[in-house]
Amino acid sequence: MDLSIKDYSLTPADVPVFEPKLVSDARKNELKEEIRELLRKQDAVLVAHYYVDGDIQDLASETGGCVSDSLEMARFGCNHSASTLIVSGVRFMGETAKILSPDKRVLMPTLEAECSLDLGCPPDEFAKFCDANPDRTVVVYANTSVEVKALSDWVVTSSVGLKIVEHLAADGEKILWAPDKHLGHYIQTQTQADMLLWSGACVVHEEFKYRALVDLKKVYPDAGLLVHPESPAAVIEEADCVGSTSQIVRAAGELDYDTFIVATDRGLFHQLRKMQPNKRFIEAPTAGDGAMCRSCAHCPWMAMNELETLRDSLLSLDNEILVDEETAMRALKPLQRMLDFPVN
Ligand code: 13P
Ligand code: SF4
Repeated sequence: MDLSIKDYSLTPADVPVFEPKLVSDARKNELKEEIRELLRKQDAVLVAHYYVDGDIQDLASETGGCVSDSLEMARFGCNHSASTLIVSGVRFMGETAKILSPDKRVLMPTLEAECSLDLGCPPDEFAKFCDANPDRTVVVYANTSVEVKALSDWVVTSSVGLKIVEHLAADGEKILWAPDKHLGHYIQTQTQADMLLWSGACVVHEEFKYRALVDLKKVYPDAGLLVHPESPAAVIEEADCVGSTSQIVRAAGELDYDTFIVATDRGLFHQLRKMQPNKRFIEAPTAGDGAMCRSCAHCPWMAMNELETLRDSLLSLDNEILVDEETAMRALKPLQRMLDFPVN
């Protein structure tokens, strides 16, 4: 049985349309003050992803929490002494925090923030795929459920996936990769590893369009191009830097361009503009003429993280992430392997 050819990408109809509430500056300031107070009261620290609302990112930095890529979020949460982690991002990020810190309370602003990669990799079907390929080392992207992680040998994020697969391939291991076919293909072309790919995709990054990008580059011939590796291969091939969200932020500071075209969720622009106020950042084009764009470079699930839901979660303690203990213990091994992997 070869499940690798089955397409697990979501269709536009599967993607929720989420309209964030309009909130006045005065109300935002009130909510931020309430959140600062609740963080102290609940012995909580805010761990935020670069794609969430800019006000939440700023609150995380200013209150001693972290705003980062998914790898650093995982590290930060388990190394921090707070008894409660409030994770602003999508569900797999909250679950990862809980697996790594089972004794901490892990809250999220909403429990409905999914990820199309996670949704596109059902554990029971993935288990069959693994069973059909027992000779392969199972490497899964962090954007997966606890159950899928528990079936793996390694968990990786986009910042370390390439190095880890390179290391495994050097040891002669054949890889079974899931769920992102674009990231898997990118790693495969860079490492020449023998990789069998699951066929999932990110609904946000898949919308970046090569032809429109080439046209935009003609308008800005001196711009650098920064690309997240969940994007299609043709877009990646044009890039001056391919990397995780943190690696993109770093490259924007290090590369000698005044202007960048950026192919990733537009939530990252908040941080890019803050870190590099003298540089110009332009969104890479999404869906081309007549095509349908339901994400338009903003993850609908990341958008569900709002100041109000963050405040409510800290107040009610309702949105707690709970994971099955036995499954979490199995998922911990491959996650810990990633955290222990020497990156430099
Ligand atoms: P990073 O690990 O680069 O932050 O990516 C997470 C993610 O979900 C990108 O879409
Ligand atoms: Fe998942 Fe894509 Fe959203 Fe990242 S941007 S959380 S990969 S759906």
